[in-house]
Amino acid sequence: MSILDIRVLGDPVLRKETTPVTKFSDDLRKLVRDMFETMYAAEGIGLAAPQVGRTERLAVVDVEGARYVIINPEILSRDGSGKAEEGCLSIPDIYGDVERAERVTVRALDENGAAFEVSGNALLARCFQHEIDHLDGKLFIDYLSTLKRRAALVKWELSKDEYPGNVRKILSEVPGAHHHVKGEM
Ligand code: NI
Repeated sequence: MSILDIRVLGDPVLRKETTPVTKFSDDLRKLVRDMFETMYAAEGIGLAAPQVGRTERLAVVDVEGARYVIINPEILSRDGSGKAEEGCLSIPDIYGDVERAERVTVRALDENGAAFEVSGNALLARCFQHEIDHLDGKLFIDYLSTLKRRAALVKWELSKDEYPGNVRKILSEVPGAHHHVKGEM
């Protein structure tokens, strides 16, 4: 397995529409494994293919041990709504409150091409919605009010030099290190 570079805000790949997966090959399954490894190393709870520079319609999720590969996902139903703070592995250190459906049911394929449906509440529902947005070229900052988005972008301008070429290098986890996990996705 290998840890992949994460693309950050400013990389055009994050705004591209993804392409549905039609071939469930060993290469695809390797990409899925690498995306999980990258997500865990970056201490995220979700990661979508565009975030590692790919255009497949695919994301991985692990919210409190609920682990899913969602390929060609679609949201079948949405219920309720709630606002909570979100962060994104592709926009490090920027957070903002986003209103999302409280519960969603998603239909997707797994890495072997098998169809499944999953319903999730709260953070899992939020993570599914955030990742599926990534597959449509949408980012959480798009939901912020004009004022809050402008403030977030000003803050981002000050830190984006840390990511030359819009690339964020992820290091392997240091055993025993203490991390403050905010649950970026
Ligand atoms: Ni994200």
